[in-house]
Amino acid sequence: MEKESGKAFDLYLFKRVLAFTRPYPITFLGTAVAAILLTLFSILTPLILKEIIDVAITQKERDLLLTLSLAMVGVLIGQVVCQLLFTYYANWLGESVIKDMRTRLFRQMIGFRMKYFSNSSIGVLVTRSVADLQRIGEIFSQGFFTIVADLLKMLAASAIMLWLNWKLALLVFAILPVILYATRLFQRAMKVAFIEVRAQVSNLNSFVQERITGMKIVQLFTRELVEAEKFRQINEKHKNAWLKTVWYNSFFFPVAEIVTSLAIGLVVWYGGLQNILDVGTEISGTLFAFILLIEMLFRPLRQIADKFNTLQMGMVAANRVFKILDTESRIEDLGTREVAHMQGAISFEKVHFSYEPGEEILHGISFKVNPGENIAIVGATGAGKSTIINLLNRFYDIDSGTICLDGHDIREYTLASLRRNIAVVLQDVFLFADTIANNISLVDPQITREEIEAAARQIGVHEFISSLPGGYDYNVKERGSMLSSGQRQLIAFLRAYMRNPSILVLDEATSSVDTYSEQLIQQASEKVTEGRTSIIIAHRLATVKKADKILVLEKGEVVEMGTHQSLLAQKGYYSKLYEAQFMAEEVF
Ligand SMILES: Nc1ncnc2c1ncn2[C@@H]1O[C@H](COP(=O)(O)OP(=O)(O)O)[C@@H](O)[C@H]1O
Ligand SMILES: [Mg+2]
Repeated sequence: MEKESGKAFDLYLFKRVLAFTRPYPITFLGTAVAAILLTLFSILTPLILKEIIDVAITQKERDLLLTLSLAMVGVLIGQVVCQLLFTYYANWLGESVIKDMRTRLFRQMIGFRMKYFSNSSIGVLVTRSVADLQRIGEIFSQGFFTIVADLLKMLAASAIMLWLNWKLALLVFAILPVILYATRLFQRAMKVAFIEVRAQVSNLNSFVQERITGMKIVQLFTRELVEAEKFRQINEKHKNAWLKTVWYNSFFFPVAEIVTSLAIGLVVWYGGLQNILDVGTEISGTLFAFILLIEMLFRPLRQIADKFNTLQMGMVAANRVFKILDTESRIEDLGTREVAHMQGAISFEKVHFSYEPGEEILHGISFKVNPGENIAIVGATGAGKSTIINLLNRFYDIDSGTICLDGHDIREYTLASLRRNIAVVLQDVFLFADTIANNISLVDPQITREEIEAAARQIGVHEFISSLPGGYDYNVKERGSMLSSGQRQLIAFLRAYMRNPSILVLDEATSSVDTYSEQLIQQASEKVTEGRTSIIIAHRLATVKKADKILVLEKGEVVEMGTHQSLLAQKGYYSKLYEAQFMAEEVF
């Protein structure tokens, strides 16, 4: 049995999982001791029963009968107590391992570079951190320890049988291969079935996750029926995958039951026959003991198969979780330069960059921004404006060229120091399901409520926030869908302003807001950009007119650079863009 599983069982992987129990040696020991005591108690029962029948009853000894009966009750109670401790310890260990591993997984994921996330499905990552970890916990609560306890029990039962009557014992052992073979077939089938189950669960998760996130699109384009049909198909596959495991289960257990009955029948018949043929050998007590011992040997055997599945499933899950833990997908953080507040001089020199190898997005971008300067980047959608920002805060590393802040390559700074100095306000503001205050401070304990309010007053959003039910304690619920995009934008401005960054980036921050919010935002953005280097990416050229310098980006190249006036005078791409917008606005 052990050798059997040796092939299918990845010992290295298992050791790695087991290593997570190292912080809990006492519980580990407690579980082991409980398992051993459990075994001792369970083999005592048939032995006492044999004594009761062969000695106390046969020789009509009332006192002994009472003593043995009490002993039996004591043993049974001891067994229950050990079982209780065993279950509790094993589960405690499992839950602790889950907790530790899940924390590590999250720490690992939260440090991955952006590229990792654009290549992975949210559903899969959620499954890894929730369902898969549950399975790993079951290795301890239902898999490994119970298998060890069962093996102990079976070994003990076999030994006692041999000791009581070796002929009957051999008879029982003769039937073992049948059940072993059935167990092996069962395991193999279950392993394949469970891999399919995991895949289907993962599919189901990603699908639901995605549709809920994109519910507006689903409903706007009346895709409900189509999506429901797709879901029905995925669900069907999921059901079939599970049913396969159920089918194997419902087949295996009756077979095991029949084999057990067969063994009991054989022993009773053969043992009884011995007694009849050879009068004088008193065997009835032994027969009773054997019935219990056969149960002790065969029942765990059936469950071992079941436990083995749990173990197997946990190992599949562990393998997947370790794959993420082993993924090296962080932005190299080798810099040592720590600067609390930079001056804010930016320079890009011949920067080439591609998200995917062979598909270059930026083709040698060069520009300079002096400390305190206000520059604007304009250009069509997909020109590479946001990409420049992604590179500045090192969400991605460049292919060639250099990006410097205050004269030092951005890789010389620690990532934390670099990003602390740059605040970005995006078009699509992400809010956590939390209060406004926590969304602004991002739960930084160093930022007090007073500071938040003072900052809000300075940039002119205090009144708006106070007007919300609950003010700063207003809970924005998931993804901030209770607020308009303009309102979310204002919160994002405050979030950026609170950090007093050296460099402020507004990436189309004013693109999708109403006129009223726009005024507030205009006011806020003037305040926020005051006295610091800022980069404004905007569609509406009206908002960039005042910039010290305007960069015109086209297909990953800087095609023009200058002030509003000088660019208009050039009569190039910018002036065409401006005229087109100006005309469009005239119409209204
Ligand atoms: N994470 C990404 N992976 C691969 N390609 C991307 C990614 N983000 C943007 N791109 C591509 O890079 C180009 C520039 O995108 P972006 O910088 O977002 O443009 P802009 O902000 O000017 O509209 C586009 O062709 C876009 O498809
Ligand atoms: Mg963009």
